[in-house]
Amino acid sequence: MAATATFSLRSLPSNQWLHKLRTRTATASVRSHSFTTLASLSPVEDTEDIQLNVNSKEMVQETVPSTSNNNNNDKSKKPYFPKRGQTLELVCESLAFKGKGVCKVADTGFVLMCDRALPGERFIGRVTRKRENYAEVKKLKTLTRHLDYVEAPCEHASHCGGCKTQSLSYEAQLRAKEQQVRDLVVHVGKFSDREPVFADAMKPIVPCDIQFHYRNKMEFSFGAKGWVPAEQLQDDTEGSRYALGLHAPGCFDKILNVNKCLLQSDSGNEVLEAVQGCWRDPELGLSPYDVHSHSGFLKHLMLRTGRNVETGLPELMVNFVTSSYNPECLRPIVEKIAAIPEVVSIVNNVNTSIGNTSVGEKEYTLYGKSTITEILRGLTFQISANSFFQTNTHQAEILYKLIEDCAFLKGDGSEIVLDLFCGTGTIGLTLAKRVKHVYGFEVVAQAVSDARQNAKLNCIDNATFIEGDLNKIDLNFASNLPTPDIVITDPNRPGMHIKLINFLLKLKATRIVYVSCNPATCARDLNYLCYGVPEQNIEGHYRLSSLQPVDMFPHTPHIECVCLLELR
Ligand SMILES: C[S@@+](CC[C@H](N)C(=O)[O-])C[C@H]1O[C@@H](n2cnc3c(N)ncnc32)[C@H](O)[C@@H]1O
Repeated sequence: MAATATFSLRSLPSNQWLHKLRTRTATASVRSHSFTTLASLSPVEDTEDIQLNVNSKEMVQETVPSTSNNNNNDKSKKPYFPKRGQTLELVCESLAFKGKGVCKVADTGFVLMCDRALPGERFIGRVTRKRENYAEVKKLKTLTRHLDYVEAPCEHASHCGGCKTQSLSYEAQLRAKEQQVRDLVVHVGKFSDREPVFADAMKPIVPCDIQFHYRNKMEFSFGAKGWVPAEQLQDDTEGSRYALGLHAPGCFDKILNVNKCLLQSDSGNEVLEAVQGCWRDPELGLSPYDVHSHSGFLKHLMLRTGRNVETGLPELMVNFVTSSYNPECLRPIVEKIAAIPEVVSIVNNVNTSIGNTSVGEKEYTLYGKSTITEILRGLTFQISANSFFQTNTHQAEILYKLIEDCAFLKGDGSEIVLDLFCGTGTIGLTLAKRVKHVYGFEVVAQAVSDARQNAKLNCIDNATFIEGDLNKIDLNFASNLPTPDIVITDPNRPGMHIKLINFLLKLKATRIVYVSCNPATCARDLNYLCYGVPEQNIEGHYRLSSLQPVDMFPHTPHIECVCLLELR
């Protein structure tokens, strides 16, 4: 597995690109696309403001010069940069990080990013925001459908914020995700894709065999104001204003009513259907929480699916998040869903704050158990309403196997493993049987307590879980622990703090397995660990031996990566 050479040096000083990371990652993945389509943009009148419900045929005939008539080689034309509010005809070239469609001005290469535009799609869009290096566009009307089109099986696919790429074939989704990781590692991480060693390290994306019903946790929100797609507006009645479903894209206060979600289990959908069938009944006197007036009772409905350890059958937890404690009000609905055989736990998180969080100040068990169980890599995990657990259990098995493979454990029980950002301890615990000791660090107290509980449940006594903020470590961090041989680090989206990078570069563990849910910050951190931070006189000591993208969440823009760094 060891690579024999390091990658070529990056061209920017790291503090400069670190500061620019936020803006650059949005556009970085578009610069090296092999896609060569030109003429991807035709300006319409500057002042034109096209409404969603305008008939597109008329609109295009009247206002949009055809792309083929747009002479991009005409040198007399001034370089073109769009203005805010301008309406344009665009062709999406590729998908960038976070799943936005990338379009470019043909003669200037200026980048426009559009939510829900897919490669090959020709559409009318309006410039909504100009950023330093690119502009954001809102899609108004599709003129020609994207490439690799498939019929989306979900009725909500074109509006729901959850699955944005359901109508793109799964193979095309995988290609796009793999390309995004490659582009970010080259442009943000500054690794050279011309080095043969890069080709060895960069692995093809691991697909997810199960592309629907893979999520073990879904959180739906109750809303006083349902969001209805423009084309369905006339069918809407006052009675359907209350909604239970998912947030409309970009709206904190508007809910798209969802009767069935294809990402969750069948039993999850059975519960959703049962709740949808009764919660609006005036006799129950239930009201959705209104985020503007801060009145109303029902905030969220969280559904978690686990497995009974003895039978292997699915078991379900239903969590009602409410603004006050009133079990009598919930009783009829609780009785109804308790009759569904898979439901083994119904809890009530009471959250009196005006915020949107689903974690209650107090939790009450209304029916059955207060936790459910799940099996992962042969271990049993107890999951409570608010504990973190990988949301795609099937693919987590594969992810954890990849992590274990990257760790190259000797298996003789001699090694010390540091499990950073350990959550409920799942990664460290799956390795514990083969090592001397696991030390896990995590900031959330409840997760640390769950990790300790999970160790006990699985009779593991060589794992220690420590509560602490890894963004605030000092020079004494971990100095009282035996020197780790292997570090597993699994930060959340912002990646690792520079203090932690510095600690790891001083520690010089033989291997670091970096698990990431954000390829942009991952690319940045890989650069630091390999090339150092010259401005701070920090030297890099690692080589990137393997970078494995994993698709944990089909139809969404999320990408997971498992990277192996070996000490040079
Ligand atoms: C992506 S999750 C990984 C969890 C775990 N490794 C797993 O696979 O289930 C990231 C974890 O890092 C924790 N975390 C976030 N910021 C942290 C910080 N500054 N210090 C310590 N832990 C942090 C989160 O609470 C979360 O549990």
